[in-house]
Amino acid sequence: MIKRIGVLTSGGDCAGLNATVRAITHHACQTYGWEVIGIRNGTSGLVTRPLEFQQLVPSMCDSATLRSGGTMLGSTNKADPFDFPNGDGTRSDRSADLIAGYHELGLDALIGIGGDGSMKILRDLAQQGNLNLVTIPKTIDNDLGHTEIAVGYSTALDVATEALDRLQPTAASHQRVMVLEVMGRDAGHIALGAGISGGADVIIIPEISYTLTNICKKIQNLASVGRNFAIIIVAEAARKENGESATIVSEPGGRPRYGGIGQYLGEKIEKMTGAETRVTVLGHVQRGARPNALDRLVASSFGVSAVDLIAQGKFDRMVAWQHRQVVDIPIQDAIDHYQAVSMDDVLIKTAKSLGIYIGDA
Ligand code: F6P
Repeated sequence: MIKRIGVLTSGGDCAGLNATVRAITHHACQTYGWEVIGIRNGTSGLVTRPLEFQQLVPSMCDSATLRSGGTMLGSTNKADPFDFPNGDGTRSDRSADLIAGYHELGLDALIGIGGDGSMKILRDLAQQGNLNLVTIPKTIDNDLGHTEIAVGYSTALDVATEALDRLQPTAASHQRVMVLEVMGRDAGHIALGAGISGGADVIIIPEISYTLTNICKKIQNLASVGRNFAIIIVAEAARKENGESATIVSEPGGRPRYGGIGQYLGEKIEKMTGAETRVTVLGHVQRGARPNALDRLVASSFGVSAVDLIAQGKFDRMVAWQHRQVVDIPIQDAIDHYQAVSMDDVLIKTAKSLGIYIGDA
């Protein structure tokens, strides 16, 4: 018998998180008469004492919430409960505190909204503590398996496309090569999608190797037919031509921070072609936007379906978007299948057919 559920947002924020929390709150309170507890700052709200949480009611989640960026609950991607920072430079396993926190709050189930890293942590916690967990995929990187789309990806794609729209006129005005570096972790979904929709001439993603010579050939071919500028989009995890990573910082105990590949390409291209080149790193602008219409729809549908899974007593499941339906899959399946850009992706064929240079020779 469910009476009270918790909800938390974990990992990097993105557009559409508040729309997801809003849908959960409305459906859980109004359809099922449950109480909804918003856990603050990801899993940290259940680890720290006093516990950090707030009760959510529909009146707190109006249409302004639906439209807003960020997460009203706060989040973190640096506080794994199994390796929790104590604040004095040391770290310890606080998973037992989190499990105790779940029980102290009297939760009957928990909805975790997260990406691949959070999904794994949440599932391990649920297994250890026998917690009733349902998860919702969110990540601008769109790299979680078995879901065609995660909350936040579509808006990030829009932002990156708009950046290319804004770079094109200034590139043409100054006869420049413009390089745009976008996020995406180890997957090239944002670069590939925005590269096509934003009219890039070159798309560089981690999944496909390239040569600097062929990038420059593409730019020179454009110049030979009278095109006085070129637009290049590169995913942050793409490697240098020699296979070296452009990682800028490796955090102790954390995942590497990508960055620098845009600058690398810009410098090489300028040297090899003589074309004046500028580099833009789009960064967190891709995460902080207002959710677009698709993200609001996906977020709302995922929120409703996650609540229904709890009502049906179906736990250890992640909601997923497949063929315009919300389905549910074992959380472990999503974790096991990292969704990089696959070589038979229709967008790869599309990019090549449009004459965009995308690498592999
Ligand atoms: O996973 C989302 C993401 O925005 C990645 O695309 C990016 O590499 C990373 O998070 C940035 O993390 P942080 O906010 O810690 O700089």
